[in-house]
Amino acid sequence: RGVAGTAPDLAGRHVLVTSGGTREPLDPVRYLGNRSSGRQGHALAATAAARGAEVTLIAAGVEVPDPAGVTVRRVGTAAELRAAVLEAAPAADAVVMAAAVADFRPAHYATGKIKKRDGVEPDPIPLVRNPDILAEISARRARPGQVVVGFAAETDDVLANGRAKLARKGCDLLVVNEVGAEKVFGSDHNEAVVLGADGSRTPVPHGPKEDLADVVWDLVRDRLADARG
Ligand code: CTP
Ligand code: CA
Repeated sequence: RGVAGTAPDLAGRHVLVTSGGTREPLDPVRYLGNRSSGRQGHALAATAAARGAEVTLIAAGVEVPDPAGVTVRRVGTAAELRAAVLEAAPAADAVVMAAAVADFRPAHYATGKIKKRDGVEPDPIPLVRNPDILAEISARRARPGQVVVGFAAETDDVLANGRAKLARKGCDLLVVNEVGAEKVFGSDHNEAVVLGADGSRTPVPHGPKEDLADVVWDLVRDRLADARG
């Protein structure tokens, strides 16, 4: 679907997309992060805008340029991402959680740079759990009929893990990517299956991240239309 030929089938809809990966500071110069580039979330935001939606993009730690025609809020940590999502969710017909949210953060933040010392082994870094934002917004549904979409990257038993994760999170759709070294992170392509809470299963062949984004928006649009009746 080229931009010129894009149907405005999301006109009048407001969608919220999270993108990138959160960064959890350890000291003023270091953080715990992940390899999410932000390209899939940005493709989702750009595609939704091209289809006529009003788009809010919450971008965590991304190094790709802001997509055009989209309201962008930049965040760092999972706590900041959560606050931004909870604030924007009540206005959103759909929430797509493409960001990689750190499961853990350092239990303590060192206000000064952590220094090495000769002859002394470093201290271990204790971690604590971050809240599960997807599970929280799925349970809460800030707006009636709101469609909630999660993303999962799995290396083994992709479908079984995906189904279990969909049920655990309570979202409507879960995009499951099969990942291995060099396979998805930082690349322009994806291979995925979109699982629905209604039991549906939509395979998405290897292709540009925009194609996967369009499949996601097709599924979201259909669910919004059903809810509207
Ligand atoms: N997610 C979230 N909050 C977290 C962790 C994950 O909102 N603290 C969201 C992600 O944005 C993604 C989905 O949950 O949409 C699945 O993330 P994933 O890391 O695959 O799920 P986890 O439950 O953290 O499972 P795992 O132990 O496999 O990492
Ligand atoms: Ca995780």
